[in-house]
Amino acid sequence: MGSTAVEFKNPATSTLLEVVKARRTYYGLKAESPISDDAIESIVQDSVLHVPSSFNTQTSRVVLLLKEEHQKVWDIAIGAMEGLVAAGAVPKEMFENHTKPKLEAFRAAYGTVLFFVDYESLAPIKEKFAIYADKFDPFALESNAMSQYLVWLALEAEGFGANLQHYSPLIDDQVTKTWNLPASWKLDAQLVFGVPTSGAGEKTFAPIEDRFKVFGK
Ligand SMILES: Cc1cc2nc3c(=O)[nH]c(=O)nc-3n(C[C@H](O)[C@H](O)[C@H](O)COP(=O)(O)O)c2cc1C
Repeated sequence: MGSTAVEFKNPATSTLLEVVKARRTYYGLKAESPISDDAIESIVQDSVLHVPSSFNTQTSRVVLLLKEEHQKVWDIAIGAMEGLVAAGAVPKEMFENHTKPKLEAFRAAYGTVLFFVDYESLAPIKEKFAIYADKFDPFALESNAMSQYLVWLALEAEGFGANLQHYSPLIDDQVTKTWNLPASWKLDAQLVFGVPTSGAGEKTFAPIEDRFKVFGK
């Protein structure tokens, strides 16, 4: 699914949009990498450095976990869910048949990127621009989502598959403790990646006419 064919001045624009159209959610992933760990690190670092933030507040914090370190985050999630089962908050059957296999599938991947927002770092600017104070937290999350999307795109352009997860606040304390992270780093999302073992699911699109308008063309 895409827009009508048009000519762009810069071939990089077509390439960018091809990457955008090709990005999908992949759940079947294995612990292999088509590129070097340095290349993965470079993608993630660039997403931290070059994705914009409101007033250039630079509120995103990112942790790249590879191989055994990646597996730890999903062991934490499995352990936390087991705790909920033991407490009677989650039915054992649901955990065994649905949640655990899903978490084990994440664990079977190559890496996870943890995306955090440091909301506490916004205190001075909230004071300085009091009129916008209530906007800074949502802006910080929006900027974080831009980094998530960029990493997702770039990893898939390099041959990975990826899926985006949200196990906060369930895993927050253990994550902070395991990697000795600052308490002010608030976890938002986990991007799981590895070499795909199966295709992406079917995807449908609502009519673009219902979602987009152009004036003055
Ligand atoms: C903001 C956001 C939150 C998402 N959260 C989850 C999630 O918690 N778990 C999950 O499996 N997929 C999650 N997804 C993936 C979406 O379900 C998926 O992107 C969507 O169905 C479109 O499919 P596609 O990624 O293959 O294009 C999320 C996607 C976005 C953009």
